[in-house]
Amino acid sequence: MSSDTSAPGQTALDVPSTGLGPTGRPVPEFPVPPPLASHGPARVIAMCNQKGGVGKTTTTINLGAALAELGRRVLLVDFDPQGALSAGVGVSAHDRETTVYTLLVDRSARTRDAIVPTRVEGMDVVPANIDLSAAEVQLVAEVARENLLARALRPVLDDYDVVLVDCQPSLGLLTVNALTAAHGVVIPLECEYFALRGVALLVETIDKVQDRLNPRLQVDGILATMYDSRTLHSREVVARVVEAFGDQVFHTVVGRTVKFPDASVAAEPITTYATNHPAAASYRQLARELVARGDAA
Ligand SMILES: Nc1ncnc2c1ncn2[C@@H]1O[C@H](COP(=O)(O)OP(=O)(O)OP(=O)(O)O)[C@@H](O)[C@H]1O
Ligand SMILES: [Mg+2]
Repeated sequence: MSSDTSAPGQTALDVPSTGLGPTGRPVPEFPVPPPLASHGPARVIAMCNQKGGVGKTTTTINLGAALAELGRRVLLVDFDPQGALSAGVGVSAHDRETTVYTLLVDRSARTRDAIVPTRVEGMDVVPANIDLSAAEVQLVAEVARENLLARALRPVLDDYDVVLVDCQPSLGLLTVNALTAAHGVVIPLECEYFALRGVALLVETIDKVQDRLNPRLQVDGILATMYDSRTLHSREVVARVVEAFGDQVFHTVVGRTVKFPDASVAAEPITTYATNHPAAASYRQLARELVARGDAA
């Protein structure tokens, strides 16, 4: 957990001499996309895995920051009552009047009132605090309770190119709201033995939401996180994930490094905290890969 596997000078992808990338496939070029001439409407991406601690929040912050570096307007939505995303971008949410919770439960709340700029230029956040933990129970009897986040985001979609929703580790009503609001899902998977356990249930949930609530929903990609190129174990896990999901697996993998917890403590994305670190390069590559796939503007 705490070891830093990125030796100085190592490239983000750590391409072995075979010419194949860490996912066992040749890695295409992901060019820097041209700047956008105009902005919006945003594509909404839910960061989802009901397993805890797989890198959802880390990926939301750092992919968001990397997309912002490319000139994209990015809105992060903290959709976890723990508020780790809000804290991770240095926004204190406990005393805020309007949070994502307010937007769900109060129809008169204005989405713009909930948006807070981060220190990253072009990246804003809708923070969450522990109030959100009451939402699932409170909303059970609500009409169209699965559509509340989609409804809340609608008024600001034209202001952004990408909205990234950081889900909590559960498949409950909040996550179903995120999937209903989303165009795509990114599934981070930690490179450890039981990574694939539970993914079938997640895919089933995505299929159900697509069938019943949100026909446009698609899986944008599966992201291997906390990859340790020195261990056979990490490589085996990635090989099994590729075996199971084929081209849905991003070529980009994110290495395991203490720079991530360090950056969280500093409340900064890795792209500014350790801008030349291979881990920052990974999230920049992920941003370019997402754009190259057509899953972000
Ligand atoms: N690539 C990485 N290398 C090392 N540590 C990482 C990496 N990515 C994330 N971490 C650390 O692992 C922990 C869990 O990451 P994160 O909070 O992003 O996961 P999560 O899926 O959002 O968790 P939860 O399900 O609790 O919301 C954090 O301490 C984070 O700093
Ligand atoms: Mg999280």
